[in-house]
Amino acid sequence: MNRRQLGTAPFDVSAIGLGCMGMSEFYGPTNDDESLEVLHAAADLGIDFFDTSDMYGSGHNEKLLAKFTSGSDLPVRIATKFGIVRQQSGGYARGLNNSKGYMKKACEASLRRLKRDVIDLYYVHRIDPQAPIEETTGALAELVEEGKILSFGYSEISSENLERACAVHPVAAVQSEYSLWTRDAEKSVLPCCEKHNVAFVAYSPLGRGMLTGAYKTPGELHQEDARHNLPRFHPENFSENVNLVSVVADISNRLDLKPAQVALAWLMSQKANIIPIPGTRHIQYLTENAEAASVKLDQQILDELDRAIPPGAARGERYTEEGFKGVQM
Ligand SMILES: NC(=O)c1ccc[n+]([C@@H]2O[C@H](COP(=O)([O-])OP(=O)(O)OC[C@H]3O[C@@H](n4cnc5c(N)ncnc54)[C@H](OP(=O)(O)O)[C@@H]3O)[C@@H](O)[C@H]2O)c1
Repeated sequence: MNRRQLGTAPFDVSAIGLGCMGMSEFYGPTNDDESLEVLHAAADLGIDFFDTSDMYGSGHNEKLLAKFTSGSDLPVRIATKFGIVRQQSGGYARGLNNSKGYMKKACEASLRRLKRDVIDLYYVHRIDPQAPIEETTGALAELVEEGKILSFGYSEISSENLERACAVHPVAAVQSEYSLWTRDAEKSVLPCCEKHNVAFVAYSPLGRGMLTGAYKTPGELHQEDARHNLPRFHPENFSENVNLVSVVADISNRLDLKPAQVALAWLMSQKANIIPIPGTRHIQYLTENAEAASVKLDQQILDELDRAIPPGAARGERYTEEGFKGVQM
């Protein structure tokens, strides 16, 4: 597995990480034993960058990672997040809190659940408009000073706020949605990351599964799957989006690759500081995704993908109104 530097953090990580969110909720039923097998298989494949949040399964996801890492000397890097406050456990309604007091308590709680002394990368999950970014960044810098976290970053931050944060303290990473069908970051956030040596961690790099060509109708998703709520997966947009992304499967057939590998290789070819974190609960998918780290696409193929799925081409918003709370891009 190739490696990429995590911006200004004092460490590098596998060029492709593993998103663990779906192992706790959102994408239908989960199974801890199977998830633990996937986590160990990831380590065997050379993946050492694991992504979680205090809100995934309301703490369940961090505890799952503790089961994976505790009692072993696996050299893994764990990124977790704070700042989304659920109104009720398991529900989608949310508040935001980036205040120093809340951050410090949330950090202690994550350390306890993760059974670790230090968090490798601590993200602000969503930007709270009530909290000036300079204050939030100053409080994160204190956590670095105190040895609670090694580095920090922001999810779905605007380039304006990233500039302001970088003026206070070096920022290791921005984590935002980026894939062939979600290109918002290209306008100003990616250039700002390059300017300040910030890694760009691309979440939902497979378009929440859509880019893999695995689904043709909404009925193929489990009835409890939260994607049913996302406008791009609504019945009136679903088949249009399936058609839009079918080029990924066409190209993968021509190149004898998997669609997920084409989607990830496209992402990694955009900039050297991009680190995708595809999520999966299947060892077969995990292996395919890991192999994408060594796939190089010709310029002709990259151009073909850009022409077929231009920015803004996806039908429907990527979040509901509630989901857009604190998203700045
Ligand atoms: N910062 C944020 O606000 C934010 C928001 C969303 C996600 N994230 C992070 O980003 C990570 C990844 O995003 P995501 O899980 O939303 O979306 P994703 O990685 O784009 O897609 C995940 C979906 O694709 C499927 N899949 C994965 N590899 C596949 C393959 N090779 N072939 C076919 N299907 C495949 C998975 O299936 P199975 O699960 O059934 O294997 C799952 O349904 C999350 O786990 C989370 O850590 C962060």
